[in-house]
Amino acid sequence: MMQAYGTAPAGSWLSVPGGSVFSLEDDRAYLRWRDAKLAGYPRSPDELTVEVSALAAPTRAETETVLGACRRANMCLYRSRQHLGDAQGTRRALAAFARHFGLTRFEAHRSADDDGIVALEVVAKGDRLGYIPYTNRAIGWHTDGYYNYEGPARMIRAMLLHCVHSASEGGANGLLDHEIAYIRLRDENPDFIAALMHPKAMTIPANEEADGKVRAQNTGPVFVLDADTGALTMRYTARKRNARWREDAATQAAVRALDCLLSEDPLIMRVKLEPGDGVICNNVLHDRIGFETGASSQPGRLLYRVRSYDRIRATESAARAA
Ligand SMILES: [Fe+2]
Repeated sequence: MMQAYGTAPAGSWLSVPGGSVFSLEDDRAYLRWRDAKLAGYPRSPDELTVEVSALAAPTRAETETVLGACRRANMCLYRSRQHLGDAQGTRRALAAFARHFGLTRFEAHRSADDDGIVALEVVAKGDRLGYIPYTNRAIGWHTDGYYNYEGPARMIRAMLLHCVHSASEGGANGLLDHEIAYIRLRDENPDFIAALMHPKAMTIPANEEADGKVRAQNTGPVFVLDADTGALTMRYTARKRNARWREDAATQAAVRALDCLLSEDPLIMRVKLEPGDGVICNNVLHDRIGFETGASSQPGRLLYRVRSYDRIRATESAARAA
């Protein structure tokens, strides 16, 4: 039976001017959208995978497949067997691929090189040392940029991971469309959604960086609606010591429900990216299992990551693709 957590607080963050299927005010629109989404939802990673012949310039058919997968599931897995040359060539192709799908504003990240791309690899020294992505450890469920919320105008809406070298053992990613997480929670109890849309739902404590600078405490909602399109973006981490949750009963119960679905939802996709493979997504929930670092004579696991404030969309260059 659904537990009542009192009436949802009235707040402008619960809806947007143009309307949204994610707003709690219109159940019929939500239910229509939900039924259609679940009916057409991919059941396996294969249904979301496209071969891309030239990463820097996908063909029209490849472009349509990527956009179609992102419309259905907010993510597309791609496979590119083209030799991209050295690191610079690979990074240039990757940036062009991202721009082709509307990701033009790359995040200014502390570990990004001049092109805005971050190399995810195990490091023994330097600025990246001490952060979990640059180790071989497992990473719990999260969306990217959860610790850096600067308001809806500058959220990480999309993310791309591209594999250069895979680990001999381990390193696979779990992926869950954040709209599926929304559906599960809303269907269990709409009060969960109201709680997770609250502007103070999740606080990330301040962190002292390696260079002595302090990243201030960061507070914001879990679910955010785009004011102009009504699209949904999610901000979340399962790392307990990284997050403080608002202390009301609805928020606490919502977080437990989210934790639970992330351990068992049948629509979680598990993939191991091999060299040339990648995922482009609207910042869906993801995790990583730990991996072997292997012999020092072998290249270690290396993934390039792009984060963007833009959502994936059809662009003019995509429309011009041959
Ligand atoms: Fe991530």
